[in-house]
Amino acid sequence: MLAPASLVAEGLEVRLGRTPVLSGVSLTITPGQTVAMLGPNGSGKTTLLRSLAGLVPPAAGQIRYGRRAIGQLGAGYRHSLGYLPQGFDFYHHFTVRQTLSYLAAIRLVHPALVPGRVDQVMDAFGLTSKADTRLTALSLGERQRVGLAQALVHDPDVLLLDEPSSFLDPEERVALHTHLRVATPGRIIIFATHLPDEALAAADRVAILCKGRLCYDGPAMALSPDPDRAYLERLPKARLQSANHPAVHLV
Ligand SMILES: Nc1ncnc2c1ncn2[C@@H]1O[C@H](COP(=O)(O)OP(=O)(O)OP(=O)(O)O)[C@@H](O)[C@H]1O
Ligand SMILES: [Mg+2]
Repeated sequence: MLAPASLVAEGLEVRLGRTPVLSGVSLTITPGQTVAMLGPNGSGKTTLLRSLAGLVPPAAGQIRYGRRAIGQLGAGYRHSLGYLPQGFDFYHHFTVRQTLSYLAAIRLVHPALVPGRVDQVMDAFGLTSKADTRLTALSLGERQRVGLAQALVHDPDVLLLDEPSSFLDPEERVALHTHLRVATPGRIIIFATHLPDEALAAADRVAILCKGRLCYDGPAMALSPDPDRAYLERLPKARLQSANHPAVHLV
């Protein structure tokens, strides 16, 4: 594993096929920071997390971990990363324990340490009673918790979590963020969410993507005291206030 360092995106441009998806994204995240990434559907949150994980090569700009581009760091960078993809899934015939043991082993956790690490993350995410259950027999929320457990099983320095609270009940959502705060001090954590109040409660900093560009990057406290309103006020107004589609007030 590499020494902890800042994660830096500089002038990042990403295309998927011919479609430009991210444009001019620049962001520096230092060890110990928790960043919530907000933005409408299709604004590029998943693409940015995949790029930071080294899964999507930039068309222009670069991503560095410390001084070096992540492409040059190879497996060392991958082993420093915990990544929860949106809609986590894995081999359905594997049990929870087999899944976590397998993923710990390929992240090069020492074989003697694998059972203990697996027990720890199962305990942290309330999965101990499901250890010998196959993934196919889990509820959506339980499967999401396996996704979270696998992201942490090798104790990584950088956590990239794509909508980690999806499918979690409120109690589990609070437990997740408490765990991230208590168990992972000094880490870089970037998580995508559609919930401004979750961003305010769980992050130090908020980045908002609008059509592939950063339209806000600042302290999470700026979403206080009314996170939904503060978030919506930072979005381009066109869709919300179109003459043909007046904003609907739900409350
Ligand atoms: N494989 C692909 N090829 C072409 N375009 C893609 C591909 N995958 C995603 N896109 C487009 O890239 C844009 C950003 O998608 P992305 O999944 O990053 O958004 P998101 O902010 O994560 O959305 P959501 O909130 O729905 O998860 C969207 O317009 C999407 O249609
Ligand atoms: Mg997404």
